[in-house]
Amino acid sequence: MAAEDPFQHLHDEDYARPYLAGLVGAEAYVPIHGRPVFSLDGDWRLTLDLFDEGLRQKWFLLDETPPSQWSHPRDYEIEAGELVSVPSCWNVLKPEWTYFEGAAWYTRHVDWQRGPAGERSILNIGAANYSALVFVNGSYVGGHRGGSTPFSLDVTDNLRDGRNRLQIMVENRRSPNRVPMQHIDWFNYGGLYRDISLMRLPAVFIRQAQAMLLPGGREVRFSVVLSDASNTTAQVDIPELGLSLSVPIRNGKGEVTTPFAGQLWSPDAPRLYDVQFSCGADRISERIGFRTIEARGTDILLNGETIRLKGVCVHEDDLALGKVSTEADVRRRFHHVKELGGNFLRLSHYPHHEHVARIADEMGLLLWAEIPVYWAIAFDNPETYADAENQLRELIARDINRASVILWGVGNENADTDARLAFMSRLAQAARRTDPTRLVGAACLINRETFAIEDRLAEHLDVIGLNEYFGWYEPDFSGLDRLLANSNPGKPVIVSETGADALSGHRGAGRVLFTEDWQAEFYRQQVRRLAATPYVAGIAAWLLYDFRTERRQTGFQKGFNRKGLIAEDKTTRKLAFAVLAGLFAEWRT
Ligand code: GCU
Repeated sequence: MAAEDPFQHLHDEDYARPYLAGLVGAEAYVPIHGRPVFSLDGDWRLTLDLFDEGLRQKWFLLDETPPSQWSHPRDYEIEAGELVSVPSCWNVLKPEWTYFEGAAWYTRHVDWQRGPAGERSILNIGAANYSALVFVNGSYVGGHRGGSTPFSLDVTDNLRDGRNRLQIMVENRRSPNRVPMQHIDWFNYGGLYRDISLMRLPAVFIRQAQAMLLPGGREVRFSVVLSDASNTTAQVDIPELGLSLSVPIRNGKGEVTTPFAGQLWSPDAPRLYDVQFSCGADRISERIGFRTIEARGTDILLNGETIRLKGVCVHEDDLALGKVSTEADVRRRFHHVKELGGNFLRLSHYPHHEHVARIADEMGLLLWAEIPVYWAIAFDNPETYADAENQLRELIARDINRASVILWGVGNENADTDARLAFMSRLAQAARRTDPTRLVGAACLINRETFAIEDRLAEHLDVIGLNEYFGWYEPDFSGLDRLLANSNPGKPVIVSETGADALSGHRGAGRVLFTEDWQAEFYRQQVRRLAATPYVAGIAAWLLYDFRTERRQTGFQKGFNRKGLIAEDKTTRKLAFAVLAGLFAEWRT
């Protein structure tokens, strides 16, 4: 047998292919649903790997012999990696890592004791941007693509009693075929930036448990999906309602419907109930609010009452933490929205952290959640579609029981082409098939030929999102007057973006761009028109905070988008904040 050629890897450019078959998606995802977990957050070793040397040379196979005893030279040494705390984005950890776009290897050890025969050990990763490959004790377990959704890997057969080595390669390269593609108006953070944990589950466990208030608001349907095709019985309990139900399970699935006698959830009264699902040895508990949401004519109705959605868009972006979202940051964001007199947020342009919807449930806010089908996606690429639909299904699986989430957004500002129509109408159908209880929308562009709110995708949507910037990108507001008068959308329109840049502290009279004064006047002119338009069911100002983006490099911007109502310090308010609050207060349904 030919001796191992130490240079063989230099001639193999197909080195990534062996891992593609192991990518997992929504079908493998196991929501935590309040189960106890063993956290793997904390110290990991991080080694940057710009040229994918780790896959080429199979760093994950190396043993942990001390350097003084190496028989061959190496290019990778766990202990030489930087000690970093997970979750984090490498871009904000070291100045020289700010713009790093490539692969990076996270390594840590975990002491584990396997449980009784049949017990499953599930590794849950909250999100890794953009793709991740996971290795346990030198074996490839599986991977994931999609930078903002959770994924799970069954590592039962890879973990051993005692000390185990966990290695995760994360790679954040931008690409024309990804979702989003390589041209975006936000910062391309990279890393393991949400929680990581191990979870022990019985041999048969609950993969999905949903509690859904049916239209009309008088009946609630509980549905349970198990991890296998068992015929058994599950149990649902809501102690505060004295409700205790058996759910017959056939081929691993079952549902039961019963009258709902509780208090409805709404932003003014965000009533949550402890709902416990159990089956065999597995039990989960979720705090769930019960509400209905529907589109009727050009109105959106919450619990059968017309509602106007008044709010802002937000990115996951922080001066110190990058894309890492803390509970304190989310609560601060929601308090700012409530100070605006808002009841609504658009979580642009990708799935935000799982705790965002949980806290919104608690604080009484309504959310538009979306996947990053943003701008010029490769709409003719089947792989790109599979990635987009998987991210959508993972988002829905994760947030299915969150009352605050009222709409799934399937894209943003995409040119109206045949390929885009096929791609996004298919996503809209996938959203409805996966979750018939929520609205489906997309942030659309106006039809420039007819100068109207028209988009071939609209017939596949419950709500039309409209991004318009008359008074900013288009100098005056006459275009908005023309557009609103010209349009007859026949379904609710949410202005999913409208805004103007202002550098905090920069002042001026009249239309002086990038002044706080013009940003404030922009909103006076915009909201006066939008609030007087019956088919405008909501407004999401673009946006709450200034945020990092490499596309913006004038003296006013210096790598930031300045359309925030508050500066990037998330404290300094601009004039427009109070002006918009006043306009929202005057806007009556
Ligand atoms: C677009 C886009 C946003 C972008 C905004 C802007 O509408 O959807 O992501 O940041 O405009 O130009 O500020």
